[in-house]
Amino acid sequence: MQDDERRWWQETTIYQVYPRSFADSDGDGLGDLVGIIDHLDHLVDLGVGTVWLSPFFDSPQADFGYDISNYCDVAPEYGTLPDAERLIDEAHSRGLKVMFDMVMNHTSDQHPWFRTSKASRSNAKADWYIWRDGRGRGGRKPPNNWRSAMEVKTAWQWSPERQQWYLASFLPFQPDLNFRNPEVKDAMFDAVRFWLRRGVDGFRLDIFGNVMKDPDFRDNPWRPHLDTGIPRFWERIYTENTDDTIQFAKELRAVADEFRSPDDPGGTERVLLGEVFGSAETLRRYIGDDDGLHLVFLFDFLTYRYDAGFFRSRIEEYERNYPAPLQPTYVLENHDRSRLIDRVGGDVRKAQTLAVLLCTLRGVPAIYQGQEIAMSNTAMRLREARDPIARTYFSWVPEAVVQRLPERLNRDEVRTPMQWTGGPNAGFTTPEAVPWLPVNENHTERNVEAQDGVDGSMLELYRALLHLRTERPSLHRGSLTLRPADPAYPDVLVYERRFGDEPERTVVAVNFGSIAATVDLNERSRPIDGATALPGSAEVEVLVATDRGLVLSGSTIQLPAHSAAVLSL
Ligand code: GLC
Ligand code: MG
Repeated sequence: MQDDERRWWQETTIYQVYPRSFADSDGDGLGDLVGIIDHLDHLVDLGVGTVWLSPFFDSPQADFGYDISNYCDVAPEYGTLPDAERLIDEAHSRGLKVMFDMVMNHTSDQHPWFRTSKASRSNAKADWYIWRDGRGRGGRKPPNNWRSAMEVKTAWQWSPERQQWYLASFLPFQPDLNFRNPEVKDAMFDAVRFWLRRGVDGFRLDIFGNVMKDPDFRDNPWRPHLDTGIPRFWERIYTENTDDTIQFAKELRAVADEFRSPDDPGGTERVLLGEVFGSAETLRRYIGDDDGLHLVFLFDFLTYRYDAGFFRSRIEEYERNYPAPLQPTYVLENHDRSRLIDRVGGDVRKAQTLAVLLCTLRGVPAIYQGQEIAMSNTAMRLREARDPIARTYFSWVPEAVVQRLPERLNRDEVRTPMQWTGGPNAGFTTPEAVPWLPVNENHTERNVEAQDGVDGSMLELYRALLHLRTERPSLHRGSLTLRPADPAYPDVLVYERRFGDEPERTVVAVNFGSIAATVDLNERSRPIDGATALPGSAEVEVLVATDRGLVLSGSTIQLPAHSAAVLSL
């Protein structure tokens, strides 16, 4: 990559919309594309650069759209193809980029491809999915030890029609496509082109790391460990992040690059963002030599420890593995994991501190709808879950146990309707409608309207941070230098952002501790190698502070407990 070439995705910020729960325009209790279009100005006001939409394609909705039955059409409950086209145009006219969600690894079992494939061993699509004979007498034992997403069950499903097993890495109704068949690859790349031709700026790639499995179907080795908080017993070396998947990323990249305009390659690039799991070092391989994915989610922040040491070590690791012009992609919340505010025991100060971190690090921050107003998990009974993970795997877990688990098992809890107002149904849908999931009771206080224009609210904090980021090259383009930890205040993390030789300097100070800390910006702002000491007293200006108790005197700040500040030096 050329260091001086500007590429939009390197400087962007991402906002994830979960269409079913964002805004309902027609009163059927389900969010839809017109609802999203009607609320695009919220994203502009917020100051994000890119909107990523979770899937809205044709689907039986067994996994709420992550089970696609037609990649090239819109599910009727969400709208029409012209609505999707209008959404892209309306976003573009507001200066927003648009990313869709491509689920390549699997389709719905209702997809015509799969219906044909499972009908016999000899039909035209017999080889479009991953079919194997079983082991044991009558072949009734799964072909190997590969496990499904939640680890507790085999990834193989028995098909009475074919008297064979098919692979479903995620849930049983999501059969994995066989990308070793060139026809399958062509069909999927054509679906990708279908949307690229309509102007979409890129894709978030659903469980992309699973796309190519070991051609020899070897058993994964036994090695109990935790993967972003999820217990795994086998190391997924033959099913995830294989060399062939990395190669596949490069082929997909070539497709995306077909649509880049030669007049403005950096501004018209179509971007690939992988949902992949593994160490920062492993995931770096997807980017290759700027010929693979552009971005990969780094999910460590989903399971952070709330302390300076944790974030220091992660940032160091990411800076090492994703040096500029590569960009780490940070995420604190999404539609699969607990809301951030619940991870910090409901403490808004801590959530605000993390918001500052997310929006001021070097890299691409991703924000999940509702995060900007501190939406919380909505407690729900596991036995009544709509979420297929909860239903398939966890419906037997006693409620008392569920309440004590660190990770939520029912994703419904983080997918309740967006809280726009304190009125009926939180303004998500008409007052008479029944939203597909209940609205959180706290919407009466916690909603966009109530926080709009209110100093100190989460919404105004995100707005301030995102606009600041757009205005300041040091924040959206600059380097990041971590300052050494101060032994007197080990709970404080300080870093500096600078862009080239520009005089603009941005310093971010985050206090994870429960006592106030003193940070001398000037003294400790000397470059670590000590080459050029800075002049005596710097002009310090507070750009954003999460706590009004922040005191600035000269170049020293007093940073209250659980607070963060962004300063100009
Ligand atoms: C990804 C999605 C999740 C979905 C799964 C299967 O992890 O984020 O919501 O259920 O893939 O497609
Ligand atoms: Mg609707």
